[in-house]
Amino acid sequence: MQQTARKEKLKSILDRLNQGEDIEKVKGEAKDFIAGISAKELSEAEQELVNEGLEESELRHLCTAHIEAMADELDQLKIKLPAGHPLETLIDEHTEILKFLEKLDELNNKFQNKLKEEITAQEIDELKEVAKNLIDTEKHHTREEETLFPLIEEKGITGPTRIMVMEHEDLWPRKEQLNELVDEFENLDFPVFKERLEELANYLVVTLRDHIYKENHILYPTAFEVIAEGKWSNIKKECDEIGYCSFTPNHK
Ligand SMILES: [Fe+2]
Ligand SMILES: [Fe+2]
Repeated sequence: MQQTARKEKLKSILDRLNQGEDIEKVKGEAKDFIAGISAKELSEAEQELVNEGLEESELRHLCTAHIEAMADELDQLKIKLPAGHPLETLIDEHTEILKFLEKLDELNNKFQNKLKEEITAQEIDELKEVAKNLIDTEKHHTREEETLFPLIEEKGITGPTRIMVMEHEDLWPRKEQLNELVDEFENLDFPVFKERLEELANYLVVTLRDHIYKENHILYPTAFEVIAEGKWSNIKKECDEIGYCSFTPNHK
């Protein structure tokens, strides 16, 4: 199929998902077709829908809805990346962040099912550690926003990057609130503490996991495809200047 025809077909699929059609039904019909689509084509088709007037906030749902179809994009990208490539570092950081989220989820469940006096000092320390690590993701997001996103946007793909920035901005205050909440463990009423923890932990776990999935499977593969090979050494330099996270593998 011609590239334009493929993109038109993809746009109609995205449009149907966005109109609320059952994702399983659409996927069933479009399965083979979707399987043959690259992340770049997907990003471009989404961009065209935005240019045609689709709200970016709607695109955000849509992006989540069809994302399963891109499941093997990350593996394919990893194979192509040379060691030390800025995208490899970002992907490795995602792996660490996902571990923090798993820990946060696990700790939240423990806290929800205990009385205050049953909470151990170690559990409080672990929660503090997770909250601190999540705050420490700032440089990861800064590297994305300052070195990667502008070069993707230069290629006319602005929808997906704007959604990622929007999510960074939604996530940031919650990370700070979690950090502040943990310090208030002794002072707050335990039911109030638990309720706030439940709310923040759930938001962070769901939103940040989903965010990472979209970057790993759509945005990074798109970046690798649209950014010229010669530009990556400069991106690496800029990344070095911004700096890394305390948990970045091989950057201690
Ligand atoms: Fe991000
Ligand atoms: Fe990221």
